[in-house]
Amino acid sequence: MQIRKASLEDFQIINDLAIKTWHVAYDKILSPEQLNYMLEMMYSLVAITEQIAVKGHHFLLLSENNKYLGFASYELNYKPGVTKLHKLYVLPETQGKGAGRLLIQKIEEAARANTNHKVSLNVNRYNSAVNFYLKNDYAKIAEEDINIGNGYLMEDFVMEKSLL
Ligand SMILES: CC(C)(COP(=O)(O)OP(=O)(O)OC[C@H]1O[C@@H](n2cnc3c(N)ncnc32)[C@H](O)[C@@H]1OP(=O)(O)O)[C@@H](O)C(=O)NCCC(=O)NCCS
Repeated sequence: MQIRKASLEDFQIINDLAIKTWHVAYDKILSPEQLNYMLEMMYSLVAITEQIAVKGHHFLLLSENNKYLGFASYELNYKPGVTKLHKLYVLPETQGKGAGRLLIQKIEEAARANTNHKVSLNVNRYNSAVNFYLKNDYAKIAEEDINIGNGYLMEDFVMEKSLL
């Protein structure tokens, strides 16, 4: 498996991977309306352009044999000394083969290289990915309900890992 940095030119690859992973990950957690609202909010060309060009989010693409299998995004110095993991998605048929761990390790490496001492993330409280993060030494530190408009809430855990 290989990981490379992504740019805006990779928008379509990221968008395709998001659509393929989101339905499997969230169909039982979110209504179809909320799922589509969130996909548009987070993965439209306008949204991804803003994340990369304005907010400075870094995107990673994981591939094997020239096929893209997953992606992640993160933001260095989201708060002083803290990297925020914004997105981490691996295609359903690829899950459980170490791709998620490779991506999260790459983000932790980037955080350390930039003297960030902590990685923080939000994950839906009903998403079994919580267990993936626990396995990778992230701890639940808070619960957060975030109003994302249109009457929708994101019901999250905040999880953190110290890199010290
Ligand atoms: C969560 C996700 C990124 C993990 O990636 P992955 O490639 O499947 O995970 P890995 O194969 O690297 O697993 C690493 C370890 O975590 C464990 N693990 C992975 N997913 C798990 C889960 N849902 N529940 C319990 N353990 C899990 C694996 O068993 C493995 O443990 P091991 O070292 O003892 O073998 C991936 O399953 C995914 O994309 N899920 C759907 C999208 C999603 O919810 N993303 C997170 C949004 S915040």
